[in-house]
Amino acid sequence: MERLQKVIAQSGITSRRKAEELIQQGQVKVNGTVVTELGTKVGGRDRIEVNGVQIEREQPVYFLLYKPSGVITAVSDDKGRKVVTDYFTDLIEQRVFPVGRLDYDTSGVLIMTNDGMFANELMHPKYKVDKTYIAKVKGIPTREALKKLEHGIVLEDGKTAPARVKFISGDRKKQTAIIELIIHEGRNRQVRRMFEAIGHPVMKLKRERYSFLDVKGLNPGEFRELTPHEVKQLRVKAVTQPSKNRGHR
Ligand code: URA
Repeated sequence: MERLQKVIAQSGITSRRKAEELIQQGQVKVNGTVVTELGTKVGGRDRIEVNGVQIEREQPVYFLLYKPSGVITAVSDDKGRKVVTDYFTDLIEQRVFPVGRLDYDTSGVLIMTNDGMFANELMHPKYKVDKTYIAKVKGIPTREALKKLEHGIVLEDGKTAPARVKFISGDRKKQTAIIELIIHEGRNRQVRRMFEAIGHPVMKLKRERYSFLDVKGLNPGEFRELTPHEVKQLRVKAVTQPSKNRGHR
């Protein structure tokens, strides 16, 4: 469900501000009844009329963006820095937003949509969507250190849920290692904080997979539309996917 003024603005007929005025002036009907309450929520099936004319609802769209590092996960930036929606502006009609966020310096899979309900489902902590990260870290973590990540580690905002961890490679000369980490939580800078907590700060981070989706076939900054089947699968997984806590090492 979304706020009435937002839905009206999204249809492109006016701004959100003007939509609020129209609602307060009694010029908006939802399913035939005048609504003047600004907080009113409407769903996809509700019929909305402005001045007696039914608005066209925006079609839901779903994309997978290969987010490059050096881009902000936001729809705008007051300092004029590049944001993830910039990749879509001239190519698609709909206004999309990111599902969750990747740090400025993180690259990889980012889902973009205009479907608020879908985004909420995927981001809800109870849905436990697996996210696979590949981290290049400083130093070469021991098996014990990685076990800590697997079991859960106490951060300032609480203990992390069990994770799956796989040692990919280590470079003794450069004193760096590549580690795969699969988590389903989405706390702020979680992966970086987890590695920091075991004394191996992240030097480079990529989200390799979001559930079953990866960036194969895309270059950084490119996106593709998700197929209807993928969207459906994501919805199903969001609802049913149990979190696993077996380690690979
Ligand atoms: N964890 C992080 O630390 N950063 C990200 O961008 C995503 C997950």
